[in-house]
Amino acid sequence: MSPEAVLVKKLVYGGYGLAEDKNRTLFIEYALPGELVEVEKLKEKKDYTIAKIKRVILPSSERRDPPCPYYGSCGGCQLQHASYGLQIRAKEEILLETIRRIGKVEVKGLDGSIYGEEFGYRVKVQFKVSGGKLGFFERKSHRLVEIEECLVAHPAINGLIPALKELSKRVKGLKEIHVLYSPSDDEFLIKLLSEEPMGREKFKKLMDDVLPVNVCGVGFYYMGQKVYLKGRDFTFFLIGPYRYRVSMDSFIQVNYMLWERFVKGAVPEDRYRKVLELHCGIGFFSLFLSEKSEHVQAYDSNRSAIKDAEYNARLNKVANVSFGHLTSQEALKKHGGDIFDLIFLDPPRSGLSSGEAKLILANKPRDIVYVSCEPSTLARDLKVLVKGGYRLKSLLMVDNFPNTYHMEAIAKLSLE
Ligand SMILES: C[S@@+](CC[C@H](N)C(=O)[O-])C[C@H]1O[C@@H](n2cnc3c(N)ncnc32)[C@H](O)[C@@H]1O
Repeated sequence: MSPEAVLVKKLVYGGYGLAEDKNRTLFIEYALPGELVEVEKLKEKKDYTIAKIKRVILPSSERRDPPCPYYGSCGGCQLQHASYGLQIRAKEEILLETIRRIGKVEVKGLDGSIYGEEFGYRVKVQFKVSGGKLGFFERKSHRLVEIEECLVAHPAINGLIPALKELSKRVKGLKEIHVLYSPSDDEFLIKLLSEEPMGREKFKKLMDDVLPVNVCGVGFYYMGQKVYLKGRDFTFFLIGPYRYRVSMDSFIQVNYMLWERFVKGAVPEDRYRKVLELHCGIGFFSLFLSEKSEHVQAYDSNRSAIKDAEYNARLNKVANVSFGHLTSQEALKKHGGDIFDLIFLDPPRSGLSSGEAKLILANKPRDIVYVSCEPSTLARDLKVLVKGGYRLKSLLMVDNFPNTYHMEAIAKLSLE
């Protein structure tokens, strides 16, 4: 073994391969478990070192040629060099290990995983623009990698790239283009985020000249504010039996191929009298929760999402769901004295605040469903909930983001 060669033990969150070298922990970019690699150190931190591969001495049988030509320079994906089977197993292990290590929760194993196609799954893509060019940023940098296509994006979004490149050249000060594609209605919604203002007539003419007719709406945002809108500021998605309106400023789960399975995995089989749902967005889970409940009271801090959610309940003739525009903390305080048999949570990556976790424990719902897109904050919050008297009944991994290190988890808890 050459002096710099290290053996990679496992994949860790962030997509790094972990190895030990002279009692120092190494996080190695693009390394896979079982590989013997020669490394070059990039950054020394207090407790660990970030390194990159100089040479793979002994490759893993699950290493593959990354299908995307920009992989390695573009920062969007971190796991394309691993077979999809290895990606799933690694995410399952990372989720379990995080829940055990940070959450100190005893969990035998996962109750399953939900995953599907590894490419073409994203219906929402946020392109970066720099110097009139379109692409994505390099890993941990603001340097642009120009691209012609993105393999994880829906093929229709790739079809729009030539028009987006034209916009990148012609809109001065353009920094980002956000594209949302509706597969059911075959239409696009576009947000342009610019650092320079633009005249209204020029904006309209440019959009007419450059964009195809199935772009149903374009918003021009300057200094964070939507200053012009051409067309509609919403599109529709079909999820199972329901049709959802989603506005430009509302959140939508990006992996359209897993929408129905994701909902099925999160919404419990049991029937409930009263459900409190926090972080409800456009009502993605709410309409399905309503099928199992006498009443669902749902909240989100985003006004645009709540307007969509209210519209979606009316559109789908769902009468037993009420929506409100409150933060989860405000909603929990407002309903402090009410009895819920289920509290359903889907917070952003930061997870719950300690105040929110305390209010949930004080409310003592019979069941809790916690949908999370960040294993470490899920683990931290589960620790509090389990200490507060709940038992973790099931844990699922949902691979909503294949070829990246991101993952989603669904934890179901019941009062002991
Ligand atoms: C991961 S998204 C989930 C949305 C929805 N459940 C869905 O699946 O489409 C998180 C949601 O939490 C909302 N949110 C963020 N911080 C919040 C807070 N402090 N209180 C309430 N909602 C919040 C966001 O507006 C967003 O809609």
